[in-house]
Amino acid sequence: MLAYLLGSVSFAVISSWIFKLPDPRTYGSKNPGATNVLRSGKKTAAIFTLLGDAGKGWLAVILAQIYAPFWGLENEAMAVVALAVFMGHVFPVFLRFQGGKGVATAVGVLLGLYFWLGLLAIATWILVALIWRISSLAALLAAALAPVYAAVLLGFGSNTLAVLLMSLILIWRHQSNIVNLLAGKEGRIGEKKSPGI
Ligand code: G3P
Repeated sequence: MLAYLLGSVSFAVISSWIFKLPDPRTYGSKNPGATNVLRSGKKTAAIFTLLGDAGKGWLAVILAQIYAPFWGLENEAMAVVALAVFMGHVFPVFLRFQGGKGVATAVGVLLGLYFWLGLLAIATWILVALIWRISSLAALLAAALAPVYAAVLLGFGSNTLAVLLMSLILIWRHQSNIVNLLAGKEGRIGEKKSPGI
């Protein structure tokens, strides 16, 4: 429950408020996420969003790792917390369950589950982004590969199942991006969608 509430805290909305930007749900893709905040033109706000959303995913998993044994909880506790914080970001109670697509939070969760797993997913994202300069494509390919990385690095346990479920939800949340990608209309990183901002 605590992990879900932590996940529900949207750093896209918070950073836009701090940096006096419009609500990210009103421009661009209307997604409360770092890529869309970047469309405002304020890089610092996008970085703050990325670090905040990834940080909450990482923190929830790390706290579960530390405290689960004290509370007599099994290894599955980490997988449940990982999914809870991710679901909080995607379906936040504070934003009427209309949240983000989960990319940054998933990265934080992966880093918390196993550092090298997170790093591999980040490396995949960076590689795809460098080649095509499309954030959603980078996220989709990293999400598709993350369960494979998890199976190799962690085996077929509850944590890998959590990674698989996260990836499936993340891909499902990118439906509009997939339509745009197939139509060749998906914007490139750094492009502004709303010239007014
Ligand atoms: O982080 C979300 C990204 O993969 C796509 O964002 O705003 O282009 O839909 P957006």
